Amino acid sequence: MDPLRIGIAGLGTVAQGLLEILHANSSEITRRAGRSLSVVRVASRSPKPSVDLGTADFSTDLSTLHDADIDVVVELIGGEDTALQLVRDAMAHKQSVVTANKAIIARHGNELVADAGREGVMLGFEAAVAGGVPIVNALTRGMVGNRVQWIAGIINGTSNYILTAMADHGSTFAAALQEAQGLGYAEADPAFDVEGVDAAHKLTILAALAFDTDFRFDAVYTEGITHITTEDIEYARELGYAIKHLGIARSSQDGIEARVHPCLIPRNCMLANVDDVMNAVLVHADAAGPTLYYGAGAGARPTASAVIADLVAMARGDAVDFKVGGADHGALNMEQVETAYYLRVPSLDEPGVFARVATILSEHAISIEGAIQRERAVHVDTSASWVPIIILTHRVREHVMTSALKAVQALPEIVGEIMRIRVEQLD
Ligand SMILES: NC(=O)c1ccc[n+]([C@@H]2O[C@H](COP(=O)([O-])OP(=O)(O)OC[C@H]3O[C@@H](n4cnc5c(N)ncnc54)[C@H](OP(=O)(O)O)[C@@H]3O)[C@@H](O)[C@H]2O)c1
Repeated sequence: MDPLRIGIAGLGTVAQGLLEILHANSSEITRRAGRSLSVVRVASRSPKPSVDLGTADFSTDLSTLHDADIDVVVELIGGEDTALQLVRDAMAHKQSVVTANKAIIARHGNELVADAGREGVMLGFEAAVAGGVPIVNALTRGMVGNRVQWIAGIINGTSNYILTAMADHGSTFAAALQEAQGLGYAEADPAFDVEGVDAAHKLTILAALAFDTDFRFDAVYTEGITHITTEDIEYARELGYAIKHLGIARSSQDGIEARVHPCLIPRNCMLANVDDVMNAVLVHADAAGPTLYYGAGAGARPTASAVIADLVAMARGDAVDFKVGGADHGALNMEQVETAYYLRVPSLDEPGVFARVATILSEHAISIEGAIQRERAVHVDTSASWVPIIILTHRVREHVMTSALKAVQALPEIVGEIMRIRVEQLD
């Protein structure tokens, strides 16, 4: 068979990994694809003479990727506008597309899937979620006979690295972030990672594939890890929990909930032991039960591995024809989502405060599962001494907790902002 002719956009981390693996594993890839994968052209902003392009030619003009001698365009430039235009142009030229770009799939996936269908081309984005972990394939092929009930994933390596460093070494958020930046795990501008947007992009994709809905980035509740303190990690540990940054998507009769936020999870559950930059996605489905997908969520070679999976599927002609938007489950508003909570209430060290807090919770029908009241008093600016009251609650809807906490916060004995972190048992 003729080779699959590939054009690569970008010559950065992932593109270099892709060139390297296509070369190193070429005989295995050719055997499995039934034909060779040939990189015809690389187009990127600037040439990199030190990178071995094999027989491919190089151009600084992205539009040369739409020449008739290229079957598939691999978009590895990142960002949104230029990348989106490149993908649209490729499809308009009847070229299939592989992309590692979660932002364009999460935000424009509905349109791109429709374009691919209309133009009769294939679209692959295995590399857009959890790097080398083949979770897109797992959901669209391996689990295709299941009704997925929920998904919970650690899908941002930077946040996971920071929380692991805070838990293992007692580092502050700022120090752990600096360490991650020093190791190249966090960007100079880490906002996308630590504020949860990157995870929300990935959860948007997972939720669409798991529940056959359209891509609904705007419906994902997104909260990052910047407010998490080592104190909370310590209290969580005392209560038998770890704090992880999770993307959770769940289908219920009320609709589909999709949320990204820090979460207390039992220390003995598998996700609690996914550390550093590793990613993992736990899928609960009706037939298969729980299945866990674990691996490197980023990096040149793991991400290239996912790109090649899409290319080989295209070479064989059996790429997934995404059926997003087939089901009409509505999106569940975060206010209606029900979870348990960890609360840290900074209060004056006076008798009766815990009882007053408990009374307000009880008036909102929130029951307490456990509590710690520390004797250690800490001095604050007012020179009043205060103690943190730590409470674990049973499950309650978000809006009920919000209104209860408003009342607790208004108590004169509460001397600082109440910390609330959601709790998931993941069983
Ligand atoms: N890195 C990972 O571990 C990883 C994991 C999963 C997914 N991804 C996704 O993979 C994609 C690529 O990531 P990466 O880490 O390889 O990025 P990168 O190292 O920054 O490489 C981007 C490449 O694209 C080129 N480029 C950027 N904008 C361009 C434009 N407007 N026109 C032409 N060329 C342009 C850059 O040129 P210069 O060389 O001149 O800068 C660079 O060669 C992103 O969507 C990213 O989210 C990355």
